[in-house]
Amino acid sequence: MTVEQHESTGAEVEDLSPSSREVAAEALESLRGPSPQLPCKLLYDDVGARLFEQICEQPEYYPTRTETAILRVRGAEIAARIGPHALVVEFGSGASTKTRHLLDALTEPAGYVPIDIAREQLAETARALDEDYPGLRVRPVCADYTKPITLPKLVDEVENTVVFFPGSTIGNFEQRQVVGFLRRVARLVGPGGGLLIGVDLKKDRHVLEAAYDDAAGVSRAFIKNVLARLNRECGAGFDLDAWRYRARWCEERSGIVMELICERPQRVTIAGETLEFAPGAVIHCEDSHKYSRESFAALAAEAGFSVDSVWTDDDELFSVQYLTADG
Ligand SMILES: C[S@@+](CC[C@H](N)C(=O)[O-])C[C@H]1O[C@@H](n2cnc3c(N)ncnc32)[C@H](O)[C@@H]1O
Repeated sequence: MTVEQHESTGAEVEDLSPSSREVAAEALESLRGPSPQLPCKLLYDDVGARLFEQICEQPEYYPTRTETAILRVRGAEIAARIGPHALVVEFGSGASTKTRHLLDALTEPAGYVPIDIAREQLAETARALDEDYPGLRVRPVCADYTKPITLPKLVDEVENTVVFFPGSTIGNFEQRQVVGFLRRVARLVGPGGGLLIGVDLKKDRHVLEAAYDDAAGVSRAFIKNVLARLNRECGAGFDLDAWRYRARWCEERSGIVMELICERPQRVTIAGETLEFAPGAVIHCEDSHKYSRESFAALAAEAGFSVDSVWTDDDELFSVQYLTADG
């Protein structure tokens, strides 16, 4: 992620996404160690992106409807904090559904740059937004936001650059990576620039475990899709039926841990290397860390952000926070 900008026109997707070869190399590197894991960004190929949309509709999955309601009800207050003519850069934009509430509330936004690793969904979403918001410059970038990204140059008259990072996606970062990531966001938006971020709050573990392991089995299908993806893209040869999904609260990590547990011996091949998994072997796929207002404010301060405003629902399940980058 850099502050460098270059000329770009149209809502065509700029593709900086990793190739299948890079995906295979990254998967192999993460799986071959003593604690096999897969980077959570690999969950989001186009199949994974669709499954995530279905997770958002499950009754147990409170984050989406709660965050959406906060954005809808508090839209005017949020827009007042951000101000007019803002450039909105969204990390992990997905279907950009929540973004519409933000764009509807903002005064004459200068442009919108959705960044996501799932290309097909990004392209469809950008086309729809381009049609629905005729005066808005939409410039989608398909890229891994954990790597340096050059933003397309949209307009000169930007009064405020704001990164929008909803969906409690920040919870997927290891806590030791959060500060480094937020520091890069602070550099991107510049002094006085903003970060509008969805931060999921700590709550009863049973509510959390149900949210990440819904009765309809969509979360299970979403996580297992990472193995299916490695079969599709790398010919890995995972037997999907030999893996059981588990979502458990871990107090020590202050988060939900999502893993696949091997139930039958497996031999797979990735990038020419054979890997073996014995029954009981675990692949760690994703964490979703939960914060208190205070614990998140402390990380934000360490990264050079001040908390300007925090909006929550009545039950304090979820928070939408506006942070400003210190000078
Ligand atoms: C939890 S979903 C949130 C989607 C949407 N923002 C929302 O609030 O519903 C995470 C999104 O981030 C994207 N994503 C995950 N890791 C990424 C990465 N490293 N670089 C770019 N996009 C990523 C996924 O494709 C997905 O759309």
